[in-house]
Parts: sequence; structure tokens; C-alpha cells
Amino acid sequence: MQIGIIGAGRIGATAARLFVTAGHQIAISNSRGAESLRTLVAGLGAAALAATVDDAARLSELVLLAVPWHLENALPQAPLLRNKIVIDAMNPYRPEGGFFELGESTSSEEILRRMPGARLVKAFNTIYYEHLATRGRKDLPVEERHAIYLAGDDVAAKQVVAGLIETIGFAPVDTGSLREGGRLQQPDSPIYNQTFTAREARAFFRNELHKLTDVLPDGALPLALEALAPFREWPGKTAGASKKAPNF
Ligand SMILES: NC(=O)c1ccc[n+]([C@@H]2O[C@H](COP(=O)([O-])OP(=O)(O)OC[C@H]3O[C@@H](n4cnc5c(N)ncnc54)[C@H](OP(=O)(O)O)[C@@H]3O)[C@@H](O)[C@H]2O)c1
Repeated sequence: MQIGIIGAGRIGATAARLFVTAGHQIAISNSRGAESLRTLVAGLGAAALAATVDDAARLSELVLLAVPWHLENALPQAPLLRNKIVIDAMNPYRPEGGFFELGESTSSEEILRRMPGARLVKAFNTIYYEHLATRGRKDLPVEERHAIYLAGDDVAAKQVVAGLIETIGFAPVDTGSLREGGRLQQPDSPIYNQTFTAREARAFFRNELHKLTDVLPDGALPLALEALAPFREWPGKTAGASKKAPNF
């Protein structure tokens, strides 16, 4: 793939190295311009190009956003991202510390508002850059690799990002929609900066779901039953079970 990377700091430069090693082409950008990226790009070889923010987006089929979340002017012009797969790796930290207050919204939903038509996937935001640099293991089965979470409403875009995560030696773990999955991936969540494998991450989710069923309000039970219906066998559903059922 041709991948545009916005931001060449800890996350952007680390992702660039991994993407190039996996056989992708990258165009990487920062605030100071191509000249300041010369050493980084030279180290990455012919598959890497230093570009402006807009050119990195324009030239690429997939774009990774890895700049401070609050800097609107650091992002490519919105029309350049229309219909493109955009990975939001950013977290809504305030420069002075703490988080921006977003009410019911989530940080990636706010990013999507700034670039209507982008096929946004929230990913790479929960993993510490040194873990990203060192914990990829293509030799392991996917379920035993370090998990990288992804959330989004565009299923096909999520599949592409999941494939990209696998090509660099990690395990994609889908957390759901941009709203609910995005919330689960926020910096104060229990999966943030954990070194779970994919198998451990799913076990953790199952355990959390199990705990939730204990506190479900009565009114939510019908919906929960409906959602789980395809996965369970009720007594009486099978011929064997109906024979055992008392006749009244
Ligand atoms: N560090 C982590 O482990 C980690 C993990 C997951 C997610 N994240 C998230 O990833 C994002 C980047 O974090 P980071 O740690 O990689 O930050 P960083 O090392 O400080 O790098 C930030 C990058 O953004 C660029 N930038 C700043 N203003 C810009 C502008 N106006 N236009 C274009 N580029 C601009 C910087 O370029 P210049 O140097 O030229 O200004 C720099 O390359 C943040 O949102 C963070 O929350 C970080």
C-alpha cells in the first residue's frame, strides 16, 4: 500500500519503519518540512518519501494521523481525505496536561467531523511507541501477538487496517463502532497501554461482558437476549431437550 503519515515523531516515525519493513511505500510529513525529514527518510530507503502534510495525504490510499490531537492545522485539508482510509492514532491530551472534555462524543468522532467522508478507523492510539517498535512478532500465530485495537463504523476500512496491523507483526482486535469502541480505546480505559495478546484481550472482554450481565437492569434484558439469541441453545429448541421437558 501507499501510506501517508502525518507526524514524524515517536508514533509516526515508528509506524513508518514498520510499514516500510512490511513492504509498504510511505510518504511522511511534519510541521518543519521535508528537509527536516531527510535523515529519517534516507534511513528508510527507496520506499520512503518526505512530503508536505497535504502531499502525504494526496499521494496515499491510506493515511495515518499521528500529530497532537488538538492541532487542527496539522491535519491535511479535509477534501484530500474524502473516501480515503484514515487511521486516527491520536489521543485528546491537553498540552497543559489532562484531557479535553468531549461530553458524549469521543476524540475520533470529533476528528471525523473535521474530515467528512473520510473512512475513519481509530487504531494505534492505545499502544506505547516503544512497544510498537519492539513487540511485533510475525513468527507468532496472530492470537498470540500483542493486540492493537481498532474501532470504526466502516467495516471494509477496518478490514484493511486489520490486515495492515497483521503485516507488521501485531494482532488486530476489533472493539466495535467509532462511538463505543472509540470510548473503550480512550486513554483512561483498562485496555490502554496494556500488553495483552489478542487472546488475552478477548478473554478480558468476555469477562467484562460477564460482569455486565449481573448489573443489567430488567428493562435491558429483552435487548440482551435478542442480541445473544443466535449464540445460545434454549431447552426445548432441540428435539432431545423437548423430550425431557415436562408436559404442562
Ligand atoms: N508517544 C506514544 O507512545 C503514543 C502512543 C499512541 C498514540 N500517540 C498519539 O500520537 C500522536 C503523536 O504522538 P507522538 O508521541 O508521536 O508525538 P511527537 O513525538 O511529539 O510527534 C509529533 C509530530 O507531530 C508533528 N506536528 C506537530 N505540529 C504539526 C503541524 N502543525 N503540522 C504537521 N505536523 C505537526 C511534529 O512535527 P515537528 O516536529 O516538525 O513539529 C512531530 O513530527 C498524539 O496524538 C499522541 O496522543 C502517542
